[in-house]
Amino acid sequence: MIKETASFIKNKLDLKNPEVAVILGSGLGRFSETLENISSISYASIPNFPQSSVSGHKGELIKGYIKDKEVICLNGRFHLYEGHNPRVILDIIHILKELGVKRLIVTNAAGSLRLDMPPGSIMLIKDHINFSGRNPLVGPNDDNYGPRFPALNNAYSLTLRNLCKKTAQQLDIELKEGTYFYVLGPNFETSAEIKAFALLGGDAVGCSTVPEVISAIHCSIDVLGLSVITNYGAGMQDNTPSHQETLSQANKASEKLIKLVATFIKEE
Ligand code: HPA
Repeated sequence: MIKETASFIKNKLDLKNPEVAVILGSGLGRFSETLENISSISYASIPNFPQSSVSGHKGELIKGYIKDKEVICLNGRFHLYEGHNPRVILDIIHILKELGVKRLIVTNAAGSLRLDMPPGSIMLIKDHINFSGRNPLVGPNDDNYGPRFPALNNAYSLTLRNLCKKTAQQLDIELKEGTYFYVLGPNFETSAEIKAFALLGGDAVGCSTVPEVISAIHCSIDVLGLSVITNYGAGMQDNTPSHQETLSQANKASEKLIKLVATFIKEE
């Protein structure tokens, strides 16, 4: 089924050698506008592909170019809080693997757990804490993709992180670095949870990305992760986060992030 879907996508988008894929988070869909020679297909038209149901997530697979580099872009992601089985995310990453993807750039919108990382900041993800109790690798393991017990201690490639820092410096974009704290959602956190997550070592909290990263590492795809900070965690500033705020803040900061990712791909 995975190979069939991959071959459908390859034909439809006339893919040649897409080594880089980008997964766009809430409010970051405009990244695809920076690509040249775009072709796209809706998730709905792809056999065996799930549908994304969150506003701010469009649901299309895009091929485009940055200089001569062919890039696949997933505009619309799948969150476990939508009710998807975690294996759905594993399947999507396996489809990317079948298409020849070697590096995955994951972006998301996240809440800050640190007062020195205000809304509008961009955080390079150096590590994560999976607090969701969910894992896309639960179930039978396909040894053709990767081992039963993959190591995750270097999940966020140091080489790619260093390259990204260099790119940010060139562009004069301030880059924070920290640990992404993954929760299932969909509710925003309580104030007590926000305090606890910071104590546990999180720098930003969000409801996405980690299932994709676990799946990618399992099948030896290198990962670069970037969070756009859209709000302080609940209660940090007497505030009440909302999805509306997430989308509008992500939109505001998206120009910076889009420039960073596009330049990174050009130069990597
Ligand atoms: N919590 C969880 N997910 C989020 C947040 C948050 O504060 N902001 C954006 N996504």
